[in-house]
Amino acid sequence: MKTFFSRFPKIVVALIAQGIALIVLAGLVLLASYIVTPPYPLWVLVILQGVLAAFISCRIGLPCWWRIIQIALPIGLYLGLTYKVNPWLALGIFVVLWLVFFNAIKERVPLYLTNNTTREALKKLVKRRRNVRFLDLGAGLGGNVVYMSQLPNVQRSDGVETAPIPYLVARLFTLLRGGHIYAMDLWKTKVEYYDVVYAFLSPEPMEKLWQKLSNEMVSGSVFVSNSFAVPDVEPSEVWELNDSRKTKLYIYHI
Ligand SMILES: C[S@@+](CC[C@H](N)C(=O)[O-])C[C@H]1O[C@@H](n2cnc3c(N)ncnc32)[C@H](O)[C@@H]1O
Repeated sequence: MKTFFSRFPKIVVALIAQGIALIVLAGLVLLASYIVTPPYPLWVLVILQGVLAAFISCRIGLPCWWRIIQIALPIGLYLGLTYKVNPWLALGIFVVLWLVFFNAIKERVPLYLTNNTTREALKKLVKRRRNVRFLDLGAGLGGNVVYMSQLPNVQRSDGVETAPIPYLVARLFTLLRGGHIYAMDLWKTKVEYYDVVYAFLSPEPMEKLWQKLSNEMVSGSVFVSNSFAVPDVEPSEVWELNDSRKTKLYIYHI
């Protein structure tokens, strides 16, 4: 949803949402003081601040998954100050989170993982193909790459990943169980080598990704996007899976 605030960096919009939430909270506290005599427990106010900020965030143009950050921010600050958490520990946690969710800020693509039902659907999709070369764009922890590498008709199963911790986990996983992971930006990946290219990203990069894939993938190959359709491009097929989130696979035959 585009709003007036969408022109600002996401972090600025997040802080604006916290600011608006603080003003609303101050108003609520003022009103409440006519009914219940203050002071109110600080932890209640902190939780309210987070909930209000989360509610406002979605409405002023932040992607809705930022709600989690907006709730966690005041609660984290409160806990940190109350229990006098060592600032180095807080910095350490921040760095680890940054190394895991590296692409959430840069590419607007956080880390979440493909489920087993979807992997079985991928297996079904490639069933009639032989010597399949599979690529996972943004391979996360490498689960899809390992899974596909173990199918008898898959000749090669590769993934690219730039978030440092997921890359290291995926590298280890594929070393032990099969497939290959490369520390490579998906925008620089040579996709023409692959018959089946899979992505589970976010709505944000889909238009640009399609420009790359439709130019570079060869005729007869297939692009599968988990959950996020390419805007204004009719998919060749849409598979709705029988899992709890009713996953949709958008399939584009090149
Ligand atoms: C939603 S996760 C999907 C992980 C895995 N493909 C799966 O389905 O289980 C998206 C992944 O893409 C990675 N990613 C985002 N932008 C990328 C880029 N430009 N180059 C490589 N990886 C990227 C993220 O770090 C994240 O691990």
